[in-house]
Amino acid sequence: MSYGVRSHVGYCRDRHRTLQSPYEWPMVFSMLPEPRMLPPFYVMELMRAADEAEQRGRDVLHMEVGEPAWPPPTVVRESLADAVRSGPWGYTSALGDRELRAAIAEQYPGATDAQVLVSTGTSPVLLLALACVVRAGDEVIVFDPGYPCVPNFVRLLGAQPRVVTLRPEDGFRPSLDAVRAARSARTRALVVGSPANPTGVTLTSEELAALAETMPCLIVDEIYRGIEYADAPVASAWALDAGNVIVVDGFSKKYAMTGFRLGYGVFPPALIRAAENIHQSMVISASPFVQKAGLTALTHPDIPSIRRDWMSQLAEARGVLLDGLAQAGIPVPSPPEGAFYALADVGAFTNDSLAFALELLDATGVAATPGVDFGPSGSRYLRFSFARGADVAREATARIADWLSAR
Ligand SMILES: Cc1ncc(COP(=O)(O)O)c(C=O)c1O
Repeated sequence: MSYGVRSHVGYCRDRHRTLQSPYEWPMVFSMLPEPRMLPPFYVMELMRAADEAEQRGRDVLHMEVGEPAWPPPTVVRESLADAVRSGPWGYTSALGDRELRAAIAEQYPGATDAQVLVSTGTSPVLLLALACVVRAGDEVIVFDPGYPCVPNFVRLLGAQPRVVTLRPEDGFRPSLDAVRAARSARTRALVVGSPANPTGVTLTSEELAALAETMPCLIVDEIYRGIEYADAPVASAWALDAGNVIVVDGFSKKYAMTGFRLGYGVFPPALIRAAENIHQSMVISASPFVQKAGLTALTHPDIPSIRRDWMSQLAEARGVLLDGLAQAGIPVPSPPEGAFYALADVGAFTNDSLAFALELLDATGVAATPGVDFGPSGSRYLRFSFARGADVAREATARIADWLSAR
């Protein structure tokens, strides 16, 4: 069965081109500059193709999705339902519900609830953190491969991303020399995820401290912290006590609460007022009942054992995926230390990760994220999410091995 791969590749490319084309700009807007056009997420195109394939009856294995397979804990859902029934229903303070902020602050040594800002996901907090420290014309150091929202947000603020390429031979760990070489008089911040999406690299406290020392401000996205495969828990960058660190985190991945839209930032005292004012204008506040559910996720005694169970499922799925990809002849240059992704090198087969991802979907029903979504170096990679569990990883890698051996 064919799923029109070629036309899909063409569709994605044409759509990107069309959206950027000046010829589309109608006369009626001739007084306006063209709208700011950020690059699209190609994974969305892939998900569309996967949905269409499913509607035609294809058994699609979803390894492109960055969200856990399981529902949020029952106690969290119950607490949300209770709060919807009995309130609160109105705005909270722009910083967020005080009880929730206090529970969050407790996790960060030396932080107080007055330094915590709660928002509608980690994503707006990333934008907010950048907006606090960046002006138009400034530069922000970002990594390739890395989470694509970050350079997009930098551009949205009129600043420039300075891209430092992470090399597979370094296990995708940032080199301090490369970061120093990218620094200029206009550099305001460096943004890093740890554990990182898409590489799973988890930085040590020493590596984070060196980055914080090198930068005016270090913004650390810790949305995958707590999803790690080594025995020792990873300390937050906040524990460095560096004074110039902003930590952003959220409930989406750790508590399987992607749809709740709940995240937060922990800011140095000198920045929290700026963050609060921007948040008042941008979001006002996160939903009060969602914040109550977040408080339950942080404080309910059932949660730690639920999360331990999830972690053992993820660890098993990680092992199955890595073994299966190795058997299929697809190397993973740096096995993930955290998060739930493996960045697999398909450079032996293609230098066009989007076309390859669509071909893979067409031939096997396996959906994976094209590496090009994570930066220019990603064209030789596919990102496989193992958040859907070991059985999906086993079946997917078996299908891939069969396909590649016959290709
Ligand atoms: C590194 C990273 N940061 C932030 C987010 C967005 O998280 P949220 O759902 O909290 O907005 C994601 C989602 O995939 C992510 O991978």
